[in-house]
Parts: sequence; structure tokens; C-alpha cells
Amino acid sequence: MAPTKTILRALAGETLPTPPIWMMRQAGRYLPEYKATRAQAGDFLSLCYNPDLAAEVTLQPIRRYGFDAAILFADILLIPQALGADLWFVTGEGPRLSTITSQADFDKLGSVDNIHETLNPIYETVKILSRALPSDTTLIGFAGAPWTVATYMIAGRGTPDQGPAHALMQNDVAVFEALLDKITEATIHYLLAQIEAGAEVVKIFDSWAGSLAGDAFKKYSLEPARKITAALKAKHPNIPVIGFPREAGDGYIGFAKATGVDCVALDNSVSADWGAAHVQVDGCVQGNLASSHMVTGGQALVDETKAIVKAFSKGPHIFNLGHGITPDADPDNVQRMIDAVREN
Ligand code: CP3
Repeated sequence: MAPTKTILRALAGETLPTPPIWMMRQAGRYLPEYKATRAQAGDFLSLCYNPDLAAEVTLQPIRRYGFDAAILFADILLIPQALGADLWFVTGEGPRLSTITSQADFDKLGSVDNIHETLNPIYETVKILSRALPSDTTLIGFAGAPWTVATYMIAGRGTPDQGPAHALMQNDVAVFEALLDKITEATIHYLLAQIEAGAEVVKIFDSWAGSLAGDAFKKYSLEPARKITAALKAKHPNIPVIGFPREAGDGYIGFAKATGVDCVALDNSVSADWGAAHVQVDGCVQGNLASSHMVTGGQALVDETKAIVKAFSKGPHIFNLGHGITPDADPDNVQRMIDAVREN
């Protein structure tokens, strides 16, 4: 049966008169109602693991703006935690994890078979959402890509250049590749469980794909995305997959064909015209307004939004930002962006 929800139609390759829209990090600190629910949960991780409150923050931007998709509220670093890494968030600084720099560190990780013990509340959130969402809103599940998740597990934190992960790749490629394989395996099981709980689309976030080049990009960004997509499609051929190899540059070209994903999400380091010519030729694209417009607003926001809609108007397109909305964004600018997309 042909899909009726707009996001699913675009993902099936349909060119729509108005692109459907959602926004990375749409449930987040720029919204006062998010901050209130997060305070109720206590901290960010308690919010992720509380199905009722995680479903509540997922629904907040749907109620406020009527986005065409909701994205499950969780985090890409829950997989390392489910594999036995310590994880905590330092206010104003970001995530911290126990580090993996040797075979001995790697051997301390738990079995992939046990991840669901930690991740069950996430599947519960998905179940609540699939009952609670409006009938025309698509539910998107997600996970981090193995390379991006590995950069945090190796360094124990976010890093500007992913230096520690590149160092492990050079110094002990066996441990590096064993870690990537383990994350790949865990991610397949995690996304299958999200789909079985009700996720209608899944997205793979490779936020640090841009620091891989040449052969390393092929082996550590493209190949894990291909493996995950193939495993999901073997069981659920009709669930679309969105790939986001952020800042991949030329690596975006041919990414959908090489991995089997149904849609490639573009960040705003490439122009929409370039994306239309080089990526949309292979199918659906998502993106790619700079999230800074959500802070600065004004006519530039409207003009740039309309220019992106126009650039992608000849093929399947899902409107989104090029990266997550930031806490200093003005909620009114989000409405201006949506109006500019929908009045096209
Ligand atoms: O898009 C969505 O709204 C879905 C939920 C989601 C979150 N994080 C919620 C979140 C998704 C898909 C992510 C992905 C994620 N998390 C990535 C990859 C995507 C990207 O943005 O590049 C990465 C690298 C992480 C790891 C992570 N989690 C970081 C670096 C941070 C920021 C820490 C900080 O203090 O700013 C987080 C926290 C986080 N994840 C927040 C949200 C809404 C903010 C949490 C809060 O303090 O309330």
C-alpha cells in the first residue's frame, strides 16, 4: 500500500508540492516547556530513561508547531552505556564516558545480547508515542553511527578533531575495528527493537563523518551504514532509513547508492543547489538550513528557507536544519521557518 503520511511519501521518492518538515533537536532547551519537563525529570539522562516524560518532550514541538515528524527523545550515547561504559553529563560542558584505548578496556565491555536491559525504557517511549501521535505525524527512531559513537567511547568526551579515535585507528587498528563492529552489532539490535516498538523511519547520525577521508570514510562511515541498513531491510524492507554523514562533502555523492539508505540528510556546509545536483539525483534528501537562522531570524531566515525549498523542488525533499537547533534559538523563528516552507 502506498504511504499517506507526507514524510513517508517523500522517503518513497515522491516529489511533493510542499516539502514535509521536522527539525533536529526539536525537543530541546530552546523551548520553555522542555526545560520544565527536564527539571521535573531531574537531569538529562533521567529524562531519557523515563518513558512518560521522554514521550512528553517528544510531543511538545508537535503540539506547538505541528511538525510532520516526531523524533524519539533519547541520545546516541545510550548505546555505550548499554554496553557497560560509564556515562554522565557535565553541565555546560557535555558528555563524559569511561575511555577505551586498549584491548583490556574493550574486554571490559558487556555483551551485545544484554543491551535491552538498559534500553527497554526507550522502546517503552516509542510505544507510548506510536499511540499518542496525531495520525499524520511520522515517528522517527535513531541511533548514532558506529564511527561517531566510537569517537566518544574512545576519547571519553566530545573532541574538536576526534584525535583520540584517529590515534587508536593508527596505533591499534584491531581494537578500533573490534569496537566499531561491536557498536554496529548493538546498533542493529537497538534499531530493530525501536522498529518493532513502532518507529516508522530510522535515522543514523554520523555527526563526525567529516573527519574521515578516502579509504577510512569508506571503511568506517559508509560500510557500517551499509551493514546496518542491510540488516534492518532484511527484516523490515518497508522501513525507510535516513543517513546523515555530516560534513562528508564529496562523500555525500553516491552515499545512498553505496549504503542502501532511502534518504541522505545534508548539513549546511554544502549549498542546496549542490545537493540537488549531486545527491538528490539519487533520491530523497533532507536539509539543510543553517541552525544559526533560528537565533538570528529576520528576512534572511525567510529568504534562505525559500531558496532551499526552491533548490530542492524538482525531487523528493524533507525540509530540516543542517544540524540541531541550539538552546539560544528563538521559538518564534521556528514558526517563521515553518510558515515560509508551507506558504511556498
Ligand atoms: O534530534 C532530536 O531531537 C532527537 C534527540 C537527540 C538528542 N541528541 C537529544 C539531546 C539526538 C538525535 C541526539 C544526537 C546526539 N547526541 C548526537 C549526534 C547528533 C548531533 O547533534 O550531532 C551527539 C553527538 C550526541 C551527544 C550529546 N548529547 C551531546 C554532545 C550533547 C550536548 C551536551 C550539552 O550539554 O550541550 C547531548 C545532550 C543532548 N542530547 C541534549 C538533547 C536535547 C541536551 C540535553 C539537555 O541538557 O537537556
